[in-house]
Amino acid sequence: NVLILDFGSQYTQLIARRVRELNIFCEIFPYNNIPSDLSSYKAVILGGSPFSVRAEDAPHPDLSQIRGKMPLLAVCYGAQYLAHFSGGEVAASNTREYGRANLSFIKEEELFFEGISPNSQVWMSHSDSIKALPTNGVKLASTHDVEFAAYKIEGETTYAIQYHPEVYHSTEGKQMLENFLVKIAHVPQNFTPNAFVEEIVAEMKAKIGNDKVVLGLSGGVDSTVAAVLLNKAIGENLYCIFVNNGLLRKNEFENVLNQYKGMGLNVKGVDAGERFLSELAGVSDPETKRKIIGRVFIEVFDDESHLLEDVKWLAQGTIYPDVIESVSVKGPSATIKSHHNVGGLPDFMKLQVVEPLRMLFKDEVRRVGASLGIDPELLGRHPFPGPGLSIRILGDITPEKVRILQEVDSVFIEGLKSWGLYDKVWQAGAILLPVNSVGVMGDERTYEKVVALRAVESTDGMTADWVHLPYDFLMKVSNDIINKVRGVNRVVYDISSKPPATIEWE
Ligand code: XMP
Repeated sequence: NVLILDFGSQYTQLIARRVRELNIFCEIFPYNNIPSDLSSYKAVILGGSPFSVRAEDAPHPDLSQIRGKMPLLAVCYGAQYLAHFSGGEVAASNTREYGRANLSFIKEEELFFEGISPNSQVWMSHSDSIKALPTNGVKLASTHDVEFAAYKIEGETTYAIQYHPEVYHSTEGKQMLENFLVKIAHVPQNFTPNAFVEEIVAEMKAKIGNDKVVLGLSGGVDSTVAAVLLNKAIGENLYCIFVNNGLLRKNEFENVLNQYKGMGLNVKGVDAGERFLSELAGVSDPETKRKIIGRVFIEVFDDESHLLEDVKWLAQGTIYPDVIESVSVKGPSATIKSHHNVGGLPDFMKLQVVEPLRMLFKDEVRRVGASLGIDPELLGRHPFPGPGLSIRILGDITPEKVRILQEVDSVFIEGLKSWGLYDKVWQAGAILLPVNSVGVMGDERTYEKVVALRAVESTDGMTADWVHLPYDFLMKVSNDIINKVRGVNRVVYDISSKPPATIEWE
């Protein structure tokens, strides 16, 4: 187990992901909330920070239980922190130290650099520079501009590097992390999907015992994997509820419900489409739509779980990025859109919460799902927003608009699949615009709806680029949509990236 201390850098999660890719379990803690019991940790990594160590309000962690007592790797801010407060010197740098750089010197006999090429490319991102090493510091590497790109402390298992090994542009960064963690710190590489499943199933069994658990399935990857894990742990005592809010994709409710049943889950489908649509009637404001859907979902879910007797736990598919976000140095980031996800806990439901995936990143959830034998097609599904098609129907929602959008979306998504493009896209969907346009079909003038298609590449939805779908494909889907979907006479393709646009239109 490895402890990563967060000083507020955007790269901290990336360090954790790289470490996990080495099959090593790690946890992120804010620098000002270091666990008091460190006995289960085999090594510590200090991350980067937007702060300068010379700033008065800069993070000032208490490392007295760590330094010299266990293997320590200090990255960027961490490296400067060790230098600045332990007898070295850090000053504003006069050359630009941002972006790609190549190592120009490495101490080759060092285990840290075993298997690393002499001119290895690394990624720099700092405005301060280490001018003098801390007491007992030994230089391990330089670049043309940065003399102390890496150093160690004699007499300790402490290593420090100025560059970011976790980013893709540090081409051998992962090897350096492996050298430190495996060769120097001797951390075992035993965090595999199978090992995780075994451990979490045992943990859930012990925690839940014979209690009953309720879980809201959404059709998405996280809630599905959470359900299958819990089902493995407690079997029939897991009660899954899958709500149709009337805003799912075409045939999704029936298909996914059958799929869940085929997986042996104890699941009840609740068709509340009409209730949602009648509460939404006449409402156009995006945030109001989201709030209504969030509220009605909780009402329906609560009604259903009251039908079950003696339920003690609510299971949720929360994953690690949400957990880190809520305890991060910066605090929860500003909300641009209020996201009402399936399974939010209402205050009046006095249930204990169980979150089997709370330590996993999204790609790990998929790998765990695969090791549980979940259908790869289900695991590879694009993300779909909790409020569903409601935020892709701009303006007010009617059953007819839902029908049109479901048809359009289905032609688009099936087209992506049959052209082998689905897996190359992170998320795709169609948007029904609140305008009519003039067209001509045969000899007739038409005055019908316009739809926009959106397909984006992304890793986490925070930033996104529109996908350059082949013209031939766009031509074919456009024709299919206009010919097959009654009520649509024009198709456009969204070529905006995020930022400044967002992925959804509302
Ligand atoms: P935006 O539109 O903010 O979307 O660029 C980023 C990601 O979030 C999804 N999204 C939502 N998911 N409830 C959700 O559960 C919501 O209200 C919501 N709004 C956007 C969106 O589909 C994309 O994956």
